[in-house]
Amino acid sequence: MDFKDSFEKLAAFIPEEERPDIGPILQAFMEEMMNPAIREWGEYQMPLMGHPKLVDFAYNDWKPWENDIVVSSYPKTGTTWLRDVCRHIIYEHDSLEFEFTKALAGPHVYLELGSEAKYELWEKLPWKRRILGTHMSAGMMNLKRLRNSGVKIIYVMRNPKDQMVSMFNMSKNLPFPRENELVRSVLPSDFNDYVQAALDGKQNMFVKKGEGYLDHILTWYAHRNDDNVLLVQYEDMKQNPAPEILKVAKFLGVNMSEDQADKIAAMTSFEATKARMQNLTVVKDFFNKGTVGKWKNHFTVALSERVDQQVEEKLAGTDIKFKYTL
Ligand code: A3P
Repeated sequence: MDFKDSFEKLAAFIPEEERPDIGPILQAFMEEMMNPAIREWGEYQMPLMGHPKLVDFAYNDWKPWENDIVVSSYPKTGTTWLRDVCRHIIYEHDSLEFEFTKALAGPHVYLELGSEAKYELWEKLPWKRRILGTHMSAGMMNLKRLRNSGVKIIYVMRNPKDQMVSMFNMSKNLPFPRENELVRSVLPSDFNDYVQAALDGKQNMFVKKGEGYLDHILTWYAHRNDDNVLLVQYEDMKQNPAPEILKVAKFLGVNMSEDQADKIAAMTSFEATKARMQNLTVVKDFFNKGTVGKWKNHFTVALSERVDQQVEEKLAGTDIKFKYTL
């Protein structure tokens, strides 16, 4: 499905007389994609994706609803999965919400992408509780305001080697102009160069100059004890989803039995999700393998050790342990 179809499908859930014009939203997405640049918001950088105007809007002007949920992550760590898990937890018993929110698989709900008109769309959609997304690091968000408003934030992380493979695979299908110098430096087409670019801080998405995924994690790790922030790991979800789903439900204030959690685990398994959602995403082959450990097919020992070394250095002061295999 392309951007236009997906937004039109979504807007169709709003009565015609109240429906916002989706033209500016589409235009902003396309302009962003077709004009690769390192966009900046203060010290934070957004190479290729994200717009300072929207970051600013989210920070200063956005009035969240008191029951909003924001799933936050670095790209390719399981964001869509977690949003889908929340969607099952929250909307399972409301067929209208359950139906239209499945169209939210793509960039529609990211705070920092597209144009402000998207926020108007969110205001008008017939949902009682919103499940939004962001790739921003914690310092880019007005956490005090979000907390005071009652917003709950789930941060999902994944081991960096599988994250890199996932991003590398997806980057081939992103509509950026491949010949563009910045695109080539942020998303090199050779895997070894790709990993090196990530380690060198060239993929500093929503973090500061020279930083990367691990720095992104650190910004959220600093908020791990905030009562409106929950940290979740992709590998734990994969290994034993039901207890993680129960944890998420409890955090969101939803009562759930173990049987229900098992049911949701089955409905949000990789195979079920792929079958249900692959025609709804705007990026081709978005659902690739959804596994833990595929990195072993791509990394040389030397390259893998370079990642281990950076993890050891950067996460030294934390108790974060990545699982690289299950
Ligand atoms: P792979 O590329 O390894 O397959 P994000 O949503 O943050 O962009 O993350 C995308 C990754 O999550 C992809 O990983 C995708 O296949 C995986 N994913 C999506 N839904 C999943 C699910 N239900 N179970 C496991 N992995 C899932």
